[in-house]
Formats: sequence, structure tokens, C-alpha cells
Amino acid sequence: SPACRVAPPRPSVEREKAVEELTIHTIPTAVLGASGGIGQPLSLLLAISPLVDELSLYDVVNTPGVGADLSHINSKAKVTAFLPEDGAGLERALTGCDIVVIPAGIPRKPGMTRDDLFKINAGIVRDLVTGVAKFCPKAFVLIISNPVNSTVPIAAEVLKAHNVFEPTRLFGVTSLDVVRASTFVADVVGGCPTQYTVPVIGGHSGETIVPLLSQISPKTDIPSDKLDALVNRIQFGGDEVVKAKDGLGSATLSMAYAGFKFAEALLKAKTQTGIVEPTYVYLPGVPGGEEVKKAIGGDIDFFAVPVELGPSGAVKATNPVPNATDYEKALLVKCYEGLKTNIVKGTEFITNQA
Ligand code: NAD
Ligand code: LMR
Repeated sequence: SPACRVAPPRPSVEREKAVEELTIHTIPTAVLGASGGIGQPLSLLLAISPLVDELSLYDVVNTPGVGADLSHINSKAKVTAFLPEDGAGLERALTGCDIVVIPAGIPRKPGMTRDDLFKINAGIVRDLVTGVAKFCPKAFVLIISNPVNSTVPIAAEVLKAHNVFEPTRLFGVTSLDVVRASTFVADVVGGCPTQYTVPVIGGHSGETIVPLLSQISPKTDIPSDKLDALVNRIQFGGDEVVKAKDGLGSATLSMAYAGFKFAEALLKAKTQTGIVEPTYVYLPGVPGGEEVKKAIGGDIDFFAVPVELGPSGAVKATNPVPNATDYEKALLVKCYEGLKTNIVKGTEFITNQA
């Protein structure tokens, strides 16, 4: 409610900070797939964020219950919940939204690759992003549904088909790889995980995930006998959770945290400068340049890199590839090959239907 936004008078030394807090924009945010393993904790984190004043939940099942539950929290977010309702629910959920987070779709079971999810999730993402194109075409779209390497190109093609594609507003959420990387680095060298920032670039599956351990900030040396195992753990960290959950799905809680962190960064970037988060974005030909062309005989159109965020979304991508070591460049060659195949598969899923 508006009352929540009015702060009490403060001493003059704190005045500047108080004014800054008062002018934070709050943004209507939607979660599509809100009743799922990721959707519920992610919606909880958004519902208690001071940056969110309206939260719209959409799923094909159970949103009335999730919405009623979250609406009892005494945060300022007004929570509304929608089911498909003969097609009208998605329109109601999306109209007026500025940020749309999409964790809808099936998760992996042991033995599956993320690409095995394509058959079902490609159509789900296509239909939900069609809703975005129609009902909130200027919203930032954050894709969590796997396989991210392909579902983001699907989203781009859907938005293009509706003439509303703006590369600065479409994001594949790869934050979990970065969250894992700092945790796993701390497991090897000690210290607190939050002290390490690791650029993880490329895509979001197996060998397309490329951690640049030579560029950890602050500078951190990984013992050479630990390097292969650490890279492998970051690339296949998702499998650890799938195996441990033993048929009951994949990462949900760590993903909700990572997805919230990314959404929160975008919300903060409405009013603050210098916010950089890694994300999988449309960057035709940029990251690998000539080396990509040499490796796969063409360009890569989508790539995860650290991106500076601003009020219009992705403002500036940094390209850490030129500073990669030879070891990392060898990882990148494998990444380019897998990524190219995943991107073409996603793009053609839409263009072949046209
Ligand atoms: P889940 O099965 O627990 O939840 C998925 C939810 O999507 C369900 O509530 C389901 O009803 C809903 N849904 C299905 N079709 C829908 C539609 N057409 N419209 C709206 N909602 C729909 O799965 P989960 O564990 O939450 O995982 C969701 C997705 O996120 C999976 O594809 C998973 O692979 C992916 N994931 C991505 C990352 C990442 O790093 N990007 C990390 C973890 C999981
Ligand atoms: C992850 O990295 O945890 C997710 O992509 C889910 C998965 O299938 O591993």
C-alpha cells in the first residue's frame, strides 16, 4: 500500500539515503509457472522484496492456493493469482507487467539432458512468450525454463514474429552457474563463497558452461591439479542435484535464489548504475569473434557474458573471451559447437512453424 512507501522523518545526515530509498521504482512483476518447485520460493522472495509492489502469479494449476498463502505476508506487495481460465488468465496476469520471469516447464530426471526437455518446454515457452508479446510487449523477459540455450532463441523468434523483439529486454537466466561457481571455488581454496566473483560464460548446459577461473575476482589461483575437477563440477553441478533428488526434479531452491538475485539486479538497475550480472543474451557474433567462425564456421547469436544493466535492460556486454587462457579457449571451442546446435534448434522450432 502507498503507506509503506512513506518513510518517517530522518536526521539530515541520512537525508540523501532516505530520498534515494523513497524514489526507488517499484515494478509490477509476473511469475509464469508460479506453482512449481522454483516458482513458489521465487515468488516468495519477490513478494517480500521492497522493490516489488505488485506480484502476478500464473500457472496451469494451484495458483489460487499459492496466491492466497503469499498474500497473508505483511510485505507491501499486492499478490494476484491466475489460472488459464479459458485463455483469459494469461492476459490478466500479464497486462501491465514490466518484468516477467518464466520458470514454467518440466524439470529433468536422472539420466536426462536438458535438451531432452525441449519436446515439452519449447511449446510452453513459445505460448507464454506469445502472451508477453501480446499483453506486455515492453516487459523484460527472464527465461529460466530449460533448455535455456534453446528456449531463449525461441522467445526471441516469437517476439520477432510479433515485431516487438528488443534484445536489451530478453534474458536467459544463468545466474545459478555463477552462484555455484563461487561456492565450488570456495570449496577448493577456502574462504567464504560470497567473496569470489567468477565469470561463467557461454550457455547453460554441460560443456556450453565455461567458467573463466583465470578471471576470478579477487585474483585467486586454483591449484593446477584441481582445475579439471573444478571446471567439471561447475559445468555439471545441475546433475548433482538431479541425482540427489532421485527422480523428484532438479534445483529449485538455489535456482529461486539465483533467479531472484537476477530479477532484483534488474529492478535495482532502474535507479542505480554499475550493476553487472551474467546473463544469456542476443549478441550476434560478438563474444568469440573470428575464433568462433574458425571453430564452427559461423557466428553464435546468443551467449552468456557479464552484462551491465540499466533502466532499459541490458546496457553493455563485457567480453572476457579475449583474455581467456589457452585452457579456457579449448573449453570455449566445445562450448561454441554445442551452443550453435542448441540455438539453431530453438530458432528453427519457430521459423519452421511460420
Ligand atoms: P516444476 O515441475 O516443479 O514446476 C514447473 C511449473 O510449471 C509447474 O507448476 C507447472 O504446472 C507449470 N507449468 C507447466 N506448463 C505451464 C504453462 N503452459 N503455463 C504456466 N505454467 C506451466 O519444475 P521446476 O523444478 O520449477 O523447474 C522448472 C523449469 O526450470 C524446468 O524446465 C527446469 O529445467 C528449469 N530450471 C532452470 C534452471 C536454470 O538455471 N535456468 C535451474 C533449475 C531449473
Ligand atoms: C540446473 O543447472 O540446476 C538446472 O539447469 C536444472 C538442471 O536440469 O540441472
